[in-house]
Amino acid sequence: MLHMATWEKICSIADIPQGQRKSFPLGALDILVVSAGKHFYACSNECPVGGESLEDGDLQGHVMRCQAHSCRTDLSNGKCLSEADLEIAIFPLELRDGWIWVKA
Ligand code: FES
Repeated sequence: MLHMATWEKICSIADIPQGQRKSFPLGALDILVVSAGKHFYACSNECPVGGESLEDGDLQGHVMRCQAHSCRTDLSNGKCLSEADLEIAIFPLELRDGWIWVKA
């Protein structure tokens, strides 16, 4: 059956301080919510290159460098900056009354 994306209340904004990240299982998905600068991003918690978790990645602005082999992914659009043509899923994210909501 086709998966219909719905908005899910993930956590409080205060749960993810600036520069931090947290993963959340959502159905069959493993979603990583990242606090980068003034923005939050929600992406698939799988490096587009080798599938490693990005949770321990090194964050520079909104670019996450994977710990496994140093590939860099732009969290604003999911594009891998190291390997053209590779990308990860980015999920719509909204802040509502102090809570982070993700559509997935
Ligand atoms: S698994 Fe991420 S760079 Fe290799």
